[in-house]
Amino acid sequence: MTRYFITATGTDVGKTHIASLLLRGWRANGFSVAAAKPVLSGLGELDLNETDSARLLSAMDQTVSEDSVAAMTPWRYQAALSPDMAAAREGKTIPFDDVMAHCQQAVMAHDADRGLIEGAGGVFVPLDDTHTMLDWMGALGTPAILVAGGYLGTISHTLTAIEVLQNHDIKIAAVVISESTDAPVSSEETINALRRFAPSVRYTSVPRVGEDDNGAAIALADFVG
Ligand SMILES: Nc1ncnc2c1ncn2[C@@H]1O[C@H](COP(=O)(O)OP(=O)(O)O)[C@@H](O)[C@H]1O
Ligand SMILES: [Mg+2]
Repeated sequence: MTRYFITATGTDVGKTHIASLLLRGWRANGFSVAAAKPVLSGLGELDLNETDSARLLSAMDQTVSEDSVAAMTPWRYQAALSPDMAAAREGKTIPFDDVMAHCQQAVMAHDADRGLIEGAGGVFVPLDDTHTMLDWMGALGTPAILVAGGYLGTISHTLTAIEVLQNHDIKIAAVVISESTDAPVSSEETINALRRFAPSVRYTSVPRVGEDDNGAAIALADFVG
């Protein structure tokens, strides 16, 4: 039973993309899988099939419907804002303890061979007035997979995220560079730069591929384990 928390250096970097590839790669390698995306904001701008929840369900070969999306993502908010602000726009507060309980039931205590939980935004995004993603990861005690990009500026963003995760005693299972469209250098060059300053971390990269790319999925699953 192996569980990971999928976090990132920021929003729109590739968490769902990498989570989908991992789920598909694990399944191709014969593992049963479980996944959760408990908190999602920005629903107002998305068709059902475009939601993170639907993408993860598809990667697990499960039906996408209003019901399955609601089960995968109990806390859904319309505004494309940080979760705490999106919830506040609807007069709500995200119930931290309930989110943790959902993660326990849907993934941590599930009998699947492999499981993952996708967070929201980057490592320091607030969930409510007192909790951030760091508290969420800390409460679950699950190793993190840190998804980063290849864009100009990623080295500082990634080293900052690594440092803050380490300072909060959150184990980093891997840093995955999900290649950006506008990357000025190769992912190998980015990883070499990161490794000079954070040598204890395991790094890999994923090229520009579809999130159902079988070869990339299996390569990533083999690397992550
Ligand atoms: N390696 C990649 N190859 C192709 N597209 C990618 C890659 N990484 C991210 N993307 C695309 O970038 C966008 C943002 O990624 P997404 O996984 O939704 O980010 P996040 O979950 O962190 O908000 C999506 O359209 C996604 O398909
Ligand atoms: Mg996502």
